[in-house]
This record gives sequence, structure tokens and C-alpha cells, in this order.
Amino acid sequence: MFKQQTYKERRAELRRRMGGGLILLPGNDEAPANYFDNAYAFRQDSTFLYFFGQNLPGLFGVIDADSGEETLYGDDFTVDDIIWMGPQPSVAELGAQVGVSDTRPSAALEQTVRKAVRQGRPVHFLLPYRGLTQIRLARLLGVDVAALADRMSVDLIINVAAMREVKSAEEIEEMERAFDIGYRMHTTAMKMCRPGVTEREIAGAIEGVTKQYGWGVSFHSIVSQHGETLHNHCHDGVLESGRMLLCDAGGETVNNYCSDHTRTYPVGGRFSQRQKDVYEVVLAAHDHVAAMVAPGMMYRDVHTASYRVLAEGLVSLGLLRGNADDAVAAGAVSLFMPHGLGHGLGMDVHDCEAMGERGLRNFDIVAERAAEIDTCILRNNWRLRPGTVMTDEPGLYFIPAYAAKWRSEGKCRDFIDYDLLETYFDFGGVRIEDDILITGEGRRMLGGGRHIPVTVAEIEEFMGR
Ligand code: GLY
Ligand code: MN
Ligand code: MN
Repeated sequence: MFKQQTYKERRAELRRRMGGGLILLPGNDEAPANYFDNAYAFRQDSTFLYFFGQNLPGLFGVIDADSGEETLYGDDFTVDDIIWMGPQPSVAELGAQVGVSDTRPSAALEQTVRKAVRQGRPVHFLLPYRGLTQIRLARLLGVDVAALADRMSVDLIINVAAMREVKSAEEIEEMERAFDIGYRMHTTAMKMCRPGVTEREIAGAIEGVTKQYGWGVSFHSIVSQHGETLHNHCHDGVLESGRMLLCDAGGETVNNYCSDHTRTYPVGGRFSQRQKDVYEVVLAAHDHVAAMVAPGMMYRDVHTASYRVLAEGLVSLGLLRGNADDAVAAGAVSLFMPHGLGHGLGMDVHDCEAMGERGLRNFDIVAERAAEIDTCILRNNWRLRPGTVMTDEPGLYFIPAYAAKWRSEGKCRDFIDYDLLETYFDFGGVRIEDDILITGEGRRMLGGGRHIPVTVAEIEEFMGR
């Protein structure tokens, strides 16, 4: 938890930005995995955590942007609970830690919300991504769950995203701690990457690292020799020499700030010439982005710049014919990299995505405003600001089914050498990912000057030790 003042200032800033209305910020509850007392690891809602700082289930924050009242709702534990859980702070104590003097039992929440609804006041909420929170909000507002999506507050989405996407100095320190966890994860994986070792052993080891040094993983680890499958969560493979392992994984600090890195390296630690050739193209795109992103730039332009470097490399490999600019304009690169260059990073590994175009079921309600204000919730219209953290994660993937589809449709056939491409169908895929902070002057890679081995020489040297 940050100091009390941080949360007070954030709530005051949100009140100022919103100008009025009742703002509902539900925390998460326990989510049972297979029976009520056996829950998934508790993960607090990031927006609740951002404004109310408490990392415990059963809490609900309310900010009255007209009166300035701030209230934390929750129920004190009984002695029966404490027998199982040990001594627990009261809700009043939790509130005091984050500068909220008004705390009330959960049952009082209904009256507060119903009164505002009766009075016709605006009641602001973000569309919840968890079913339990949806049911709770619908009940409080007296509407059907399906109606929530039409009533979510565009103002709240815009203002919360605009605040969360720009990281303060103390948040950057947390993200540097997240980098440290990522560094340990990826160097552990590299050291283990030998023929005969299973993907599961490596995934288990690096996920253990996240629990040793932080809260846990920031998303399901991708540890696979089938790097061509973008989000491959299967860990059944046994490492074979001649293949490459793609490891895309990150951890969260105990305060839930995330890291997200990818490295791809040869099993056993020595690149073949073909592996090196493909790898160097991806690294060139990664390095180009890391040298050129700057405040004020639009994310889509950075994405296109990475495609441009990949296109040049694909031309040099003979997989694309002709001119790199024409190939980019024709859309040929998306066969080899069918994803965006990166995304925002913060308290969510895809920061603020629950509020964005990929999180909301009906983003249309938000789209017009989002396009005006250039936030990360609409990636194509995202202006990079000092304090923004974004991932830089270009890749090249050889996906047989996707290539066969393009070929059968005759897509970009003037640009793509499909016969040569078929000789790469046993290759897999390469992705390289680092986390970049946009600064006032330009940018810097998170890691405080350290980085996870990334060049061919660094990887071969590190894995050969
Ligand atoms: N969560 C995987 C990635 O975006 O890199
Ligand atoms: Mn990643
Ligand atoms: Mn990523």
C-alpha cells in the first residue's frame, strides 16, 4: 500500500474530474474454485485498489462527487470468522489507513444507492467483468444484469483510464519491482531450457518465482516450443534440440503491479543459422521501437513502424518480395505478426482493458469519446504520454493453418513467397517483449539499466554458463 495521502489525492482528483454524481467502486469478493471455502487466489479489482488501497475481499468504495463524502462499505469479521482467520482489522481501521473516516456495513449500501437513484442523480460505475459484481450492482440499481452495459458511465471510464494510464513515481518504483520478478522468472527459464526438460517443469519453476517474490503471475504463463500459437497455455511438450522455446510470462508485486516479458531461445542455448536469421529480424523491430517511442506519438504509428522493420527483414529473408513499404500498405506483414505491437501495462497486465475496446461488450457507447481523448482504452487512438508504460512485443510466427488460408484466398500473393514460407512450417514463432516507460524526454526500458539477455550473443553466453 502507498501512503494515505496518495489515495486521498487520487479520490480528490477523480471527484474533481467527474464534477458530480455518486461514484460506485466495488472491490472484488472471493471467487470459489470448486467449493465455497476453496477460492482462487484473491485478486483485488485494480480500480478499487487504485482509489481505496485495501487488498481484501468484501469491500465497496463510494465517492459522492457532489458532497465530497467518501465511504468504505464492508462488514467486520465475527469471532467465528476469527477462529479460522486469526485477528482481523475492522473496516473502520481499514478506512483510516487510506484516509476514509466514514465506514459503514455492507447492508447500508443499498439505501445510499437507492436514494441517489430516486433523486435522479447520476450514478457512475464501470461495467464489472465478474458475474458476482454484476449481480450485486444490478440489484443495487434495481435493474437487470443485461441492462448494466447500457448504463455504465462513459465519464467514469474515461477519467479512471486517463488517471491510471499515467504512472506516478511511486508506481514506477513498483513496476521496477515487477521487473525484478520478471528478470528472475526469465533467467530461471533460460537456465532450465535443455533437451528432455518439460515445458511444465519450466512453467512451474517460474510461477514459483512469482509467489516467492510477489503476488503471483500477471497472466497464465506461455512456455511453449509452439511459439507460433500466440497464447499457448499448454505445457505438455518435452524440449527437443533444434527447437526454440517461447516464454511469455510476468509476475505481479504484492501490490499488484505487473511485468510482462517474452524471450525466445534455442533449446540447449545455441542458435542455428535459420533461427538466428529470424530472431535478428524480430530483434531489429523490437530495438527500433525501443529507440523511437516518445511522448506525443500515437501507438498506431509505433505499431506501423515495427511492421516496417519486420517487412524489411522478411524481404531480406526472401519471404516477402518487392518493397517493404508496399508490403506494409498491402497488409502482408499481418500474416507473420497477427497481433498489435503491444499494450498498456500497470495494475492489469493489459492495463485498463476491462474498460476498453477489448473488455467491454458494447464499446460503441464509449468509442466516440475515447477517440477524442486518446487513451489506452482505444488502442488505435492512444497517444503516449510521459508516465505511460507500454509493452514492445513484435514477433514473427509461421502458422501453417493461417498461411494455408491466405494462400487459398490468394491474399497478398504478389508479395508473399508461399513456397518458401512452407519450408518454415516446422519453425514455430519468435516474440521478444520488454516494458517501456515513456518519459518527458523520450523513453526508457524498465529494469533500471538491467535487461533480460536479449541479443543472440547475450543469450548464448548466458545459457552457456
Ligand atoms: N499476456 C500476454 C501478452 O500480452 O504479452
Ligand atoms: Mn507477454
Ligand atoms: Mn504483452
